[in-house]
Amino acid sequence: MKDYRIALIPGDGVGREVLPEGVAAIAAAAEVTGSFRIETIEYPWSCEWYLDHGSMMPADGIDQLRDADAIYLGAVGYPGVPDHVSLWGLLLPIRKEFDQYVNLRPIQALEGIPSPLRDRGPDDIDILCIRENTEGEYVGVGGRVFQGTPDEVATQVTVFTRRGVERIVRYAFDRARERRHLLASATKSNALNHTAVFWDEVVDAVALDYPDVTVTTYHVDALAARFVVAPDTLDVVVASNLFGDILTDLGGALQGSLGLPASANLNPERRFPSMFEPVHGSAPGRAGQGVGNPLAALWAAKMLLDHLGETESAGLLMDAIRHVARNGPYTRDLGGSAKTTEVGAAIVEAIHSAPKTA
Ligand code: IPM
Ligand code: MN
Repeated sequence: MKDYRIALIPGDGVGREVLPEGVAAIAAAAEVTGSFRIETIEYPWSCEWYLDHGSMMPADGIDQLRDADAIYLGAVGYPGVPDHVSLWGLLLPIRKEFDQYVNLRPIQALEGIPSPLRDRGPDDIDILCIRENTEGEYVGVGGRVFQGTPDEVATQVTVFTRRGVERIVRYAFDRARERRHLLASATKSNALNHTAVFWDEVVDAVALDYPDVTVTTYHVDALAARFVVAPDTLDVVVASNLFGDILTDLGGALQGSLGLPASANLNPERRFPSMFEPVHGSAPGRAGQGVGNPLAALWAAKMLLDHLGETESAGLLMDAIRHVARNGPYTRDLGGSAKTTEVGAAIVEAIHSAPKTA
């Protein structure tokens, strides 16, 4: 029996409402499989915490998380604290400090939840998006001078490193090998004549090691269109930080609701803990009503279990998600009126009533 320590950062808004459902599902899977125990440690770092302490997390916050086996995060950001302050104070430093350079975002339509794309369903929409997560457009290089004057200047520099691009591209090729052997690389090398041209060169060089994978380079604008008109032609997609951010919200929308897509921020070498979270944000307009869809957080919990190597438990949780997608209950974003906790309870129930394999 293994013991895992999971750091919980519920954060803000609906993040705090959906995370407990994920923890309950992990506990249910642990009980059913009997293969592990979890200890959770909750960190109250959030925008509320910021208003009391003047920072999003303590100065040694990263060190406090370092020994966790995984980090499970709700959402960050709330009115009262500017988003760039809250995100650069908590979420983004965790991704960077723990070198979580892979942001894995599966885009899968589920039976029972209609995609907004007419005549498209689970057979057509199954894309594994792999987003670079520590550099690129999000590297944080730039600045502002002459603020408030007519001469004001703002720069935000994109930084691609050979090491950074090569490792994410290699990771994507490896995943394509496990799937349909198709890789789409998002570029914009017609306009971004330095960074994106470099990205393409690295993709071409790495491709030589993967003759069994067909790689196609698409300009990101055309790729966005392809997500909509021909999602069935896409298998694994690799993209820079910002391109991946945009494409995965589009992908989430194709799943039928942003209440579904989940995100794994991975340090594949396991030198540091990886972090799992729903793609959606704190949804201030919906927070406090208990109506947020917990399926994205539950899917993130499933990815957390995969990362821990708890494959059977991950399978139970994914089966439960599919069961609820088919049969309900549904939250408001999916046209129902169920509460967050009712969906969570249905998941736990489905995990407990899964047919025994052993
Ligand atoms: C996401 C979010 C974040 C990002 C924001 C909140 C900084 O949109 O995880 O996709 O852009 O990475
Ligand atoms: Mn995003």
